[in-house]
Amino acid sequence: MRWIKGDDGLPAEEVGVWAKKKHNYLGRYLDISRAARKKYIGPTKAGAAYFDLFCGSGRSKIRRTNEWIDGSAVVAWKTSVAGEAPFSAVYVSDIEEESLNACVVRLKKLGAPVFPIQANAVDAAQQMVSSVSEYGLYFAFLDPYNLESLDFRVVSTLAALERIDLLIHVSAMDLQRNLLANLRAEGSTLDKFAPGWRDNVNTTGSQSEIRRRIVEYWREKVAGLGVWPSINQRLISGEKNQPLYWLLLAARHDLAHQFWSTAANPEGQGRLF
Ligand SMILES: C[S@@+](CC[C@H](N)C(=O)[O-])C[C@H]1O[C@@H](n2cnc3c(N)ncnc32)[C@H](O)[C@@H]1O
Repeated sequence: MRWIKGDDGLPAEEVGVWAKKKHNYLGRYLDISRAARKKYIGPTKAGAAYFDLFCGSGRSKIRRTNEWIDGSAVVAWKTSVAGEAPFSAVYVSDIEEESLNACVVRLKKLGAPVFPIQANAVDAAQQMVSSVSEYGLYFAFLDPYNLESLDFRVVSTLAALERIDLLIHVSAMDLQRNLLANLRAEGSTLDKFAPGWRDNVNTTGSQSEIRRRIVEYWREKVAGLGVWPSINQRLISGEKNQPLYWLLLAARHDLAHQFWSTAANPEGQGRLF
């Protein structure tokens, strides 16, 4: 990881302009869902916590425009405060100590009740789930760089909580670029992302067809955990219109899906598929 010095002096990252889009969806969802969150906040309540398992440093510079933007955990905290339904706990984790520390300092400056965990996302998910009440309300943002880090155990561990909504970044670019290598390699990215795919996904036909089947298989596995992946997948594209990643919500409850269909359609657009 290469850090740069942030506009507040702490380590920061450089990102593509598309990072703004994902933060916009994240913020919209957390804003729209504020009334539901409010019901869980207060001294006698079980709490409403935010989990960011790939939190980064909390501040980034957009490569092309030099604009400084907040990272996901900072966006989430600020949005929850602005909506007068601040998270009762903000769990942040990252594999990189320097990123995590910078993120924690930034959140603490804003008064967030932060719980840092330096670990890979598989271990962090376990620690988060075992630290919280089973009666609380939870929102997890899973924003890895690639499919390999989106280990299925992260999703399955978090899905054990009854009231959890997950906003997941699925790397379309990774799936596209590395498909042939992944199909061949034992213990590949795909084995982590969608274990069991070899016995369940038909790998004949065009690459785009195989990719579609892999994502479909993953969606079925996620649904099998009881957290249904939304059909409203938002495709985030790069500056040359190349597909980068999908953002989608997985949740047990209808209300969460209703919130996402509004959050994912700022222009009132219909479904993608
Ligand atoms: C796309 S960046 C996160 C950006 C952040 N969510 C935001 O929007 O501001 C991905 C982060 O995942 C971290 N990371 C990579 N592999 C990981 C793993 N296996 N477990 C936990 N963190 C990981 C990286 O250090 C990096 O900070």
